[in-house]
Amino acid sequence: MFPFLWIVLLLNCLIRGEFFFCPQAQLVDCHTSDREALLDFIKGLENSEKQLSSWKGSNCCQWFGIVCDNITGAVTKVDLHSTSVNELELKSLTYLDLSSNSFTGTIPDFLPFLENLQYLNLSYGGFSGAIPPNLGNLSSLKFLDVSSPSLNVDNLEWMSGLLSLKYLAMDGVDLSKAGVGWVDALNKLPFLTELHLSSCHLSSLNYSLPLVNFSSLAVLNLSNNYIKSKFPNWLVNISSLVSVDISYNRLHGRIPLGFSELPNLQSLDLGYNQDLSASCFQLLRRRWGKIQVLDLSMTKLHGRIPAALGNIASLIYLDLSKNDVRGSIPSSIGRLSNLQFIDLSCNNLTGGLPEFLEEETANCPSKSPLPNLKNFKSSYSNLTGKLPNWIGNLKNLVVLDLSYNLLQGPIPLSFENLRQLSELRLGSNKLNGSLPKGLGKLSALTYLDVSINQLAGVITEAHFSGLSKLKQLILLRNSFILKVNSSWIPPFQLCTLAMGSCNLGPSFPAWLRSQKEIVILDFSNASISGSIPNWFWDMSSTLSYLNVSLNHLKVIYQIH
Ligand SMILES: *[C@@H]1O[C@H](CO)[C@@H](O)[C@H](O)[C@H]1NC(C)=O
Ligand SMILES: *[C@@H]1O[C@H](CO)[C@@H](O)[C@H](O)[C@H]1NC(C)=O
Ligand SMILES: *[C@@H]1O[C@H](CO)[C@@H](O)[C@H](O)[C@H]1NC(C)=O
Ligand SMILES: *[C@@H]1O[C@H](CO)[C@@H](O)[C@H](O)[C@H]1NC(C)=O
Ligand SMILES: *[C@@H]1O[C@H](CO)[C@@H](O)[C@H](O)[C@H]1NC(C)=O
Ligand SMILES: *[C@@H]1O[C@H](CO)[C@@H](O)[C@H](O)[C@H]1NC(C)=O
Ligand SMILES: *[C@@H]1O[C@H](CO)[C@@H](O)[C@H](O)[C@H]1NC(C)=O
Ligand SMILES: *[C@@H]1O[C@H](CO)[C@@H](O)[C@H](O)[C@H]1NC(C)=O
Ligand SMILES: *[C@@H]1O[C@H](CO)[C@@H](O)[C@H](O)[C@H]1NC(C)=O
Ligand SMILES: *[C@@H]1O[C@H](CO)[C@@H](O)[C@H](O)[C@H]1NC(C)=O
Ligand SMILES: *[C@@H]1O[C@H](CO)[C@@H](O)[C@H](O)[C@H]1NC(C)=O
Ligand SMILES: *[C@@H]1O[C@H](CO)[C@@H](O)[C@H](O)[C@H]1NC(C)=O
Repeated sequence: MFPFLWIVLLLNCLIRGEFFFCPQAQLVDCHTSDREALLDFIKGLENSEKQLSSWKGSNCCQWFGIVCDNITGAVTKVDLHSTSVNELELKSLTYLDLSSNSFTGTIPDFLPFLENLQYLNLSYGGFSGAIPPNLGNLSSLKFLDVSSPSLNVDNLEWMSGLLSLKYLAMDGVDLSKAGVGWVDALNKLPFLTELHLSSCHLSSLNYSLPLVNFSSLAVLNLSNNYIKSKFPNWLVNISSLVSVDISYNRLHGRIPLGFSELPNLQSLDLGYNQDLSASCFQLLRRRWGKIQVLDLSMTKLHGRIPAALGNIASLIYLDLSKNDVRGSIPSSIGRLSNLQFIDLSCNNLTGGLPEFLEEETANCPSKSPLPNLKNFKSSYSNLTGKLPNWIGNLKNLVVLDLSYNLLQGPIPLSFENLRQLSELRLGSNKLNGSLPKGLGKLSALTYLDVSINQLAGVITEAHFSGLSKLKQLILLRNSFILKVNSSWIPPFQLCTLAMGSCNLGPSFPAWLRSQKEIVILDFSNASISGSIPNWFWDMSSTLSYLNVSLNHLKVIYQIH
C-alpha cells in the first residue's frame, strides 16, 4: 500500500527514542526517488488531498521530520513521534502493516494516536515486551495481528474497547497472565469472526459462560496451549463456527454432540486432548452437515465406528488414530467420495477391513468407491482378515500403511494398479503367498516394506523393473529367494536395503555394486558364502548401519 522502507525507517527512529524536531534547513538536495517514495506513503493515507502541509517542495530533506545524509542527500530518518502524528495528519492512516521485520524494542507508543486505524499488523515485527493496553483506544480497528513469541500481556481487559474488531491474531504471545478472564474480555466483541490464540501459554478457559456474545465467530484456533479445563460446551451455541482447532491442550470432559449440529462447521480439530472422551458410535452417527476435516486423534474416543459414517459425504480428512476404537471398519466408508485422508492407526479394530465397499449410488453409480483417497493408514490396529481387493482400485492412493496388524493371506494382485502409490507399508502382519510381480509396475514407489510376514517364493528382476524411485526396500524376515542375473543393474538407488533372512546367495550379490547411496544395509542370515569383494568397501563411506552376520563370508585382507 505504501513503501515499506519508509515505514521501517520511521519506526527504527521512533523505537530508538531519537525524538527531536528537526525542520532544520538542510543544505543537501533530496533524491527524487526518495521524495516520490515519501509522497507515495502519504497517498496511502485516507485524505490524500489534505496532504501534509509541510511535505511540499522538491527538496524533501527540508520536510518536517526528515533527516538526510549531509553528503549524499539520502534520507536516513523519518523522525516522528506522538506529537508529530497530529502534525503529519497520520490520524487518517487506516492501514499499517509492519509485519515480518526485525525491529527492536517495544511496540511504538504513537500507535494509539492513529485513531482511524482499521488494519494493524505487527506480527513477527521483532517487537518485544508487553503489548500496550492503550491499543484498546483504537476503536475503529477491524484487524489486529500481533502474533509474536516475544510479546506478552498482563491481561486482555483493554480489548473490550476494540468494539469493531473482526479479526484478532495473537499466536505465540505470552498470555499466561491473562488468567481465566480472557474469554470474558473477548466475549464483549460482537463482530469478532476470527480468533487465533495458538501457542499462547493459556492454562484456563471459562467453560461456563452464561451468555455467548461471540455470535459472529467463524474461526477459533486455541491450539497448542495448556488449557486444563472442562470442555467449554458454550462453543456449540455459536452457529456461525466454521473452523475450530483446540488441539494439543488438556481439556477434559466429553465432546459435545452439538458440534454435529453446527450448520457451518467444516473443520474440527480436538486432537491431543488426552482426557477428552466421546463415544465414536454416538458422535459419528450424527449429521455433520458440512464437515470436511475431523481430527479426534489421541483423545479418549471409544467404541465402534457406526455404518452411518458413510453418510458424512463432505468428509475429506478423518483422523481417529491413537484411541480405543473397536470393531471393524464399515463398508459404508466406500460412499465417502470426497475422502482423501483416513488414519485409524493405534486402535483395536479386531474386526478388520470390509471385504467389499458400498458404492455411492446417488450421483455416479459407475464411479469406483473412494476415488479421492490418497492416504490410508491403519497400522497398530489389530486388524484381522485378508487384504481386500478393492484397495487395488484406489487409483489415487499415495500412502498405504497397514503395518503391525494381524492381516493374513496374500497381497492381492490388484495392487499393481496403484500407480500413484509412494509408500506401501505392510510389515509385521501374517501375510503369506508370494510377492506379486505386478508391484514392479508401481513406478511412484519410494518405500516398500513387507518385512516380518510369512511371504515366500522367488523374487526376480521383474519385481523391481519399474521401481526407479525406490529408496527403502525392506523385505527382511520372510522366506524369499532372490534370483537375479549376475549382471543385473537395478533401476533404483536405495538408502535402506533390509533383506535379512532372505536367500540372496550363494555368492555375494553383485548388483549391490550399483548402489551408491546406501545408509542402512542388512543382509544378515542371507545364505551368502565366499569372500566379500573389494568394491564393497567403497560403499562403506555412506553406510551408517551394516549387518552381514549369520552368513558364510570370508574377509581377505590385502596387504600392499
Ligand atoms: C550533518 O549536519 C549536521 C547539522 O548541520 C551536523 O550536526 C552533523 O555533524 C553533520 N554530519 C556529518 C556527518 O557531517
Ligand atoms: C499479517 O502479516 C503476515 C505476514 O507478514 C500475514 O501472514 C498475516 O496474514 C497478516 N495478518 C492479517 C490479519 O492480515
Ligand atoms: C486512551 O484512552 C484513555 C481513556 O480511555 C485515555 O486516558 C488515554 O489518554 C488514551 N490514550 C491515548 C494514547 O490516546
Ligand atoms: C455482549 O455485548 C454487548 C455489546 O454488544 C455488551 O453490552 C454486553 O455486556 C456483552 N455481554 C457480555 C456477557 O459480555
Ligand atoms: C465465567 O464468566 C462469567 C460471566 O462473565 C462469570 O460470572 C464467571 O465468574 C466466570 N467464571 C470464572 C471461573 O471466571
Ligand atoms: C446454549 O443454547 C442452549 C439451547 O439453545 C441454551 O439453553 C443455553 O442457555 C445456551 N448457552 C449459552 C451459554 O448461550
Ligand atoms: C491453528 O494455528 C496453528 C498455528 O498457527 C496452525 O498450525 C494450525 O494449522 C491452525 N489450525 C487450523 C485449523 O487452521
Ligand atoms: C490387540 O489384541 C491383543 C489380543 O486381543 C491385545 O492384547 C492388544 O492389546 C490389542 N492391541 C491394541 C492396540 O488394542
Ligand atoms: C482389543 O479387543 C479385544 C477383542 O475385543 C480385547 O480382547 C482386548 O482386550 C482389546 N485390547 C485392549 C487393549 O483393549
Ligand atoms: C496362507 O495361510 C492360510 C491360513 O492362514 C492358509 O489357508 C493358506 O493355504 C496359506 N497360503 C499359502 C500360499 O501358504
Ligand atoms: C544375464 O544377462 C545377460 C545380459 O543381459 C544375458 O546375456 C544373459 O543371458 C543373462 N543370463 C541369464 C542366466 O539370464
Ligand atoms: C534365518 O533364515 C531362516 C530362513 O529364512 C529362518 O528360518 C531363520 O529363523 C533365520 N534365522 C534368524 C536368526 O533370523
